[in-house]
Amino acid sequence: MSEINRIFPEGFLWGGATAANQYEGGYDAGGKGLSSVDLIPHGKERMRIATGNIDQLSIKDECFYPSHLGVDFYNRYEEDIRLMAEMGFKVFRMSLNWARIYPTGEEAEPNEEGLAFYDRVFDTCLKYDIEPLVTLCHFDVPVATIENFGGWRNRKMIDLFVKYSETVLRRYKDKVKYWLTFNEINMILHLPFMAAGVVIKEGDNKLQVCYEAVHHELVASAMVTKIAHEINPAIQVGCMLAAGRTYPNTCHPDDVWAAMQKDNEGYGLIDVQSRGAYPAFLLKELEREGIKIPFADGDKELLKEHTVDFISISYYASRLTSGDKELLKKQTDGNVFATMKNPYLEASQWGWQIDPLGLRITLNSMYDRYQKPIFIVENGLGANDVVEEDGSIHDDYRIEYLRQHLLTMHDAIELDGVEVMGYTSWGCIDLVSASTGEMKKRYGYVYVDRDNEGNGTFNRSKKDSFFWYKEVIGTNGACLK
Ligand code: BG6
Repeated sequence: MSEINRIFPEGFLWGGATAANQYEGGYDAGGKGLSSVDLIPHGKERMRIATGNIDQLSIKDECFYPSHLGVDFYNRYEEDIRLMAEMGFKVFRMSLNWARIYPTGEEAEPNEEGLAFYDRVFDTCLKYDIEPLVTLCHFDVPVATIENFGGWRNRKMIDLFVKYSETVLRRYKDKVKYWLTFNEINMILHLPFMAAGVVIKEGDNKLQVCYEAVHHELVASAMVTKIAHEINPAIQVGCMLAAGRTYPNTCHPDDVWAAMQKDNEGYGLIDVQSRGAYPAFLLKELEREGIKIPFADGDKELLKEHTVDFISISYYASRLTSGDKELLKKQTDGNVFATMKNPYLEASQWGWQIDPLGLRITLNSMYDRYQKPIFIVENGLGANDVVEEDGSIHDDYRIEYLRQHLLTMHDAIELDGVEVMGYTSWGCIDLVSASTGEMKKRYGYVYVDRDNEGNGTFNRSKKDSFFWYKEVIGTNGACLK
């Protein structure tokens, strides 16, 4: 077989991704209010708080909160964006911190200092011809909205979020073309506090509360899509799913059915954002469970009329499931969702399975379902990098992971005809891990001198992958073998 030419489509958006809560820092600088993620410490209570199982709405002296300083993008954005430009980035995915703009969510006027900070960031990107791709909500909500309204379980959040979104859409309408409303909307079902500021109280029906929060976010997402298109018709709005196709453990129909249901859990939500209505299987399932979706007058029409322009996904690995409940007891780590161990796959140091072909499979199934362009806005390998005595970092394992995924992404585009707009690998500059709160779980092309306990200078240095990715972008993929 002749060697495939790995050149990507002209204008393909190569870049990297971050999120304010793990990257920005400056948690109390420039008039910013406290965010939900500022209350999630590193350590053993992290997951219990993120899942909404502990009600801890204040900062505790004895805890370390990695989001407070992140990796200091707040003060180092110029250096970081310069490094991205050196790699040839065409796009930089970042999120805005809502509480930097409306510290309690309820102010009549936005915080000008917060808006001016993001102006400086976008201007720096544009100076280097880097297109910003902005997530409006990546795991953070103002703490005051949790205290006053209980987070996204309350419909009041829609108005507050729409006000915030309209403010930033108007302000940055000529600087930012690509917007995502909510990061990984399906995370609400797993991490209700981290994703939506929802604490599960005694007596709550957790599923009911989660679907209320989901519905409010879906309605807010449609309203924001409408407003964005009115403000500037050139703006493109996307939804975002923590994706990764679920495989059946065997060809037993029970296993195939279980796998389909697992995938439907996520698809059911972005079906609303991209097709304009809750799918029949989800409505039926919720009805059976006695869960009520809190529809208000006009919601259905709004969802129908204001669907997204593109689909965005995070892809770290495929998943595996079975119809046999006994087998499900032995699960391995994955991106928050537990999965069975696939004997054909290797895993990262954190137990996340590695499945490059799974990306092609996921892209195909999603493109087939939605028929809209797909943006891969997260992918990558979390690894504990070693700094050599001379300061170099040889992360050949990361290069190998990324290389294999880029090849299957290219196959999906070239051989299967999937429309892929771009690719932003996760944590392009090392940042705090969302699930563990660790620094040593690194994804970047650029190393940041900071450890799990909060020691370090925040100095940046280039890893081997920095030079590799620069060549990939510079040749538009042609160097990939
Ligand atoms: C995604 C999130 O789920 O996975 C990111 O959108 C997160 O915020 C990323 O950082 C990787 O997960 P982790 O736990 O390794 O940081």
